[in-house]
Amino acid sequence: MGLQNQNLSFQMKGYNITTLNEFIIRRQANIPYAKGELSNLLHHIGIAAKVVHKKVNKAGLVDVLGEAGNVNIQGEHQQKLDVFADMQFTAALKDSGECCGIASEEDQEIITFEDELSLDGKYIVCMDPLDGSSNINVNVSIGTIFSIYRRISPRGEKAQLIDFLQEGNKQIAAGYIIYGSSTMLVYTTGMGVNGFTLDTGIGEFCLSHPDIKTPQDGNIYSVNEGNYNNFSEGVKKYIKYCQDKDKETKRPYTARYIGSLVADFHRNLLKGGIFIYPQTAKAPKGKLRLLYECNPIAYIAEQAGGKATDGEQRILDLKPESLHQRVPFYTGSTKMIDKAEEFLKKYK
Ligand code: AHG
Ligand code: MN
Ligand code: MN
Repeated sequence: MGLQNQNLSFQMKGYNITTLNEFIIRRQANIPYAKGELSNLLHHIGIAAKVVHKKVNKAGLVDVLGEAGNVNIQGEHQQKLDVFADMQFTAALKDSGECCGIASEEDQEIITFEDELSLDGKYIVCMDPLDGSSNINVNVSIGTIFSIYRRISPRGEKAQLIDFLQEGNKQIAAGYIIYGSSTMLVYTTGMGVNGFTLDTGIGEFCLSHPDIKTPQDGNIYSVNEGNYNNFSEGVKKYIKYCQDKDKETKRPYTARYIGSLVADFHRNLLKGGIFIYPQTAKAPKGKLRLLYECNPIAYIAEQAGGKATDGEQRILDLKPESLHQRVPFYTGSTKMIDKAEEFLKKYK
């Protein structure tokens, strides 16, 4: 082997990075008849994620902290970063030309893209552009959640509400971006879950967590215990069960609650645990939104071998009735969800 070839072979051995785009394209090659539309859509989501990452990382230095001065459809004060992320992801999805409309936590109605390319787009996207708004101003992990469906309405026409009110089991892809100690993009297209860490040096999401499988059991429980007095008897009893001492089941469990669904879910996905946001007196239907929080997270949980229910029924089988519908949410390690449901049933 000549010197030049030796060097080349050395370099090749050292090069083992798989970027998000490469991964998406390789996956696409495994699907007969795939034309690259979904790949293109995911690629554009990746670009918006990098733009938001940059802004998040400069928070405190540039003017992105604090309230934007508006109240959104949820009755929540929008933060500047909520508005920024909403604009970036909306623009990226429109630019992709593959998406005929979106539903966002920040917008009351669906937004339809009516240029020629987008009207012909196969997909619609539901998104929570900035999850964990209460953590923005204090340097705690936040996220973005997205959920992709094939449209029901005919291509070439404006997207309709029915395109968005599909059951979660019809999702084509779902994912989240976590802006944490590093920025990661985690997604599924129904063939397992893969996680990519943003290498800021080369500006690429690189495969760091291939084929994520969540533990079947765990010892972390995540719930806002400040709402304890407003929980149902079943939830109260389950929380007490988590706190009781038992050697065999390694209790008491550890309580961990960040207040950003993406971050709480991500930790439990990797370590094993249960995340609960049940009904409370203040939020009789729960707080989290079915379309752009619970469904995408449920799809990822199941694809990683975990579970997601409303305490009784599988989240992905719920028929959405409205865009901003809320549901009680229980997700994480299968054995822990089963145990929580046992308590809910017993003390119904
Ligand atoms: P968002 O910032 O998108 O409105 O979502 C906030 C959600 C979710 O991220 C988190 O799990 C939950 O609200 C926290 O609610 P509490 O503060 O009531 O615990
Ligand atoms: Mn949210
Ligand atoms: Mn949000």
